Amino acid sequence: MNGLALLADGAGSAQNLSIFHPASPSAESIRSLFILVLAITGAIFLVVEGVLLYSIVRFHRRAAETTEPPQVYGSMPIEIAWTAAPMLIVFVLALILTRTEFEVRVNPDRPPPGSKPLYVTVIGHQWWWEYVYDKYDGQDLGFITANELHVPAGEDGVPRPVYLTLESADVCHSFWVPRLAGKTDLIPGRTNHMWFQTSQQGLFLGQCAEYCGTQHAHMLLRVNVDSPGEFQNWLDNQKQPASSGASVREGRDAFLSQSCVNCHRVRGTIALGSYAPDLTHLMSRQTLASGVVPNSREELRKWVIDPRQTKQGCLMPAFGLSEQQVDQIVNYLVTLK
Ligand code: CUA
Repeated sequence: MNGLALLADGAGSAQNLSIFHPASPSAESIRSLFILVLAITGAIFLVVEGVLLYSIVRFHRRAAETTEPPQVYGSMPIEIAWTAAPMLIVFVLALILTRTEFEVRVNPDRPPPGSKPLYVTVIGHQWWWEYVYDKYDGQDLGFITANELHVPAGEDGVPRPVYLTLESADVCHSFWVPRLAGKTDLIPGRTNHMWFQTSQQGLFLGQCAEYCGTQHAHMLLRVNVDSPGEFQNWLDNQKQPASSGASVREGRDAFLSQSCVNCHRVRGTIALGSYAPDLTHLMSRQTLASGVVPNSREELRKWVIDPRQTKQGCLMPAFGLSEQQVDQIVNYLVTLK
């Protein structure tokens, strides 16, 4: 599978990013609002343009005319009509908008009865996503992963709503997976909330939707909606510390002796950095660098040698490692499944 096919993944990425194919109640509310507002404003546009074109044709100056047409000043009924009509239209739009706001914002403390809610804290970084898994179905999770969100699909009449708490480590970002929910900003010093819920399994794509610096366009979002069983397996694996057999010792020692540990975390080792993506289960992710390249040994090697070749401007520098050190570190990284 080449890189592009992997990034677009089956369904076709254009359709996968379309607000016209909602897969969650909040995305559906937003589509309905969009269509209704487009219909109302489209009708106004047609009426106004129609009257304008009619007037241009009907009342344009003809060659034989030498005098001005009769001028009409001040008509009370017309004044009232064109003040009242727009006010009514704006009032109706405000009502529709308010209804959608209520549908889209729900209280995360009160998930629907009989549901199994998932709580994740999303932290935006330049230019990647950190996911702190807080709670699922009443159980504390307490692990951290990056860039690829996994959530369970609703099944057998049991909804599995996903509640996201959104924060930022640096500048403003915006979490936008069009088929699942509307945009919500991640703002430094502020906490925002959003939710979605779906019974459609598969990969949903998204994109940071607030300009956040050089690599804003490469701050891609991937949400994997798994079957409840698959999701549970994924959770069980993520909760484990990193693999630590004797066979990985050489590579692990190389990794732990470098400055990697200042920024990256590998649970079960002395690498406890919290500044960069958690690598405990790096190889369970399909992509690197926030969805930019496939997570292959080759791309990983390029990244370790010089990350800025893959993602110009990213905060991890090239460390000038020897060929042997690069090989040892990559040999270790590919065991983090
Ligand atoms: Cu993060 Cu744009």
